[in-house]
Amino acid sequence: MKKDLLMWDETIFKDPDLFELDHIPEYFAHRDTQMQTLMYCVKPALRGGRPVNVQCIGSPGTGKTTGVNKLFEEIEKVKSKVIPVYINCQANSTRFTVFSRIFKKLFNHSPPSSGVSFQKIYEKITQHLADEEKVLVVALDDVNYLFHEGEHDKVFYSLLRAHETNPGARIGVISILSDTGTGFHLDPKVESVFLPEEIKFPRYNTDEIRDILDNRIKMGFFPDVVSSEVLEASVEYAELLGDLRVGIDLLKRSGLSAERRANRTISLDDVNGAYESSKLVHLTYLLKSLKKEEKTLLELILDLAEITTGELYKAFHEKTGLGYTRYYETLEKLLVLKLVDTNFTGKGTRGRSRIIKLRYGIEELRKRLG
Ligand SMILES: Nc1ncnc2c1ncn2[C@@H]1O[C@H](COP(=O)(O)OP(=O)(O)OP(=O)(O)O)[C@@H](O)[C@H]1O
Ligand SMILES: [Mg+2]
Repeated sequence: MKKDLLMWDETIFKDPDLFELDHIPEYFAHRDTQMQTLMYCVKPALRGGRPVNVQCIGSPGTGKTTGVNKLFEEIEKVKSKVIPVYINCQANSTRFTVFSRIFKKLFNHSPPSSGVSFQKIYEKITQHLADEEKVLVVALDDVNYLFHEGEHDKVFYSLLRAHETNPGARIGVISILSDTGTGFHLDPKVESVFLPEEIKFPRYNTDEIRDILDNRIKMGFFPDVVSSEVLEASVEYAELLGDLRVGIDLLKRSGLSAERRANRTISLDDVNGAYESSKLVHLTYLLKSLKKEEKTLLELILDLAEITTGELYKAFHEKTGLGYTRYYETLEKLLVLKLVDTNFTGKGTRGRSRIIKLRYGIEELRKRLG
């Protein structure tokens, strides 16, 4: 047996969990200012005061979810008055489900799924906080989904005005928004009590991506499995799709591909092959989840190429008869799903004209749209 070949029971992964996307990394660098601001905002709550509300905003894969989870880990480590609750709004997109999650965290069991009103759950939660003198910090991750369901004002309103129903109930909100350039607006009544401290999560630059991936490699693979060329290729691909996740997923897939060849090192071919499959598997999955008008809009973007948002609206309206609000929401969805991107042109009288760009090849999209 050649010594560079793997035995059937050997692996090149020292710790495969590090390449799972929900893994919370020990090494979380380049986010010090964001973490400090987060800590500063919850600090008053540790002593029973009201936390400062927070809005985390940034492109996909910039460490928002990870940062807030790290903060919550820190909070859970010490005994304090704070109860952190993390809510994924994609899975919990109505006021009822959001508050059911909170209920479960406080009482260790879910509320009955039928026959109990929101009001009842709400009262139990606020009463509990007041009686126990606890402060709730609720992270609403991927809050975009609340907007899609039209539930955002209700959720924010109920959380932020809890102390009006029950003066002892203290709740702070950390809202996490994937920035797609279109922005969101809360009802002014809600906005006036939310008043968040905004924390921006900028995209990682090349050096930062390299550093993060390099660390993941050192912790996750055995020595000498990944060459510097392979690292460089992964960095490049992650930058291409503008998402650190792609880099991490690529490392996992190319590692598996090397193992399939019974090889102890990952080759560039492993990475290139892994990129094609991870990108396309992702794409097929995204396109399957689209609604009718979202498909129509995407098809228009394919046909019209390099179109501005204004021109696209005209074409969309002509084809579907739908108005601006629906257009805006539909475009927003394509942006959130990272199927398209928008860039300011710098032209246009108000300087707000944006050009829409596809994030995948036209042929790859056409094939899958059927
Ligand atoms: N600074 C960092 N150090 C190490 N790993 C990181 C860092 N930032 C992000 N990651 C990793 O990148 C992946 C994406 O990060 P995360 O889920 O926090 O992004 P996000 O900003 O919440 O993206 P989205 O807007 O799409 O939800 C995760 O697997 C995470 O472990
Ligand atoms: Mg996230």
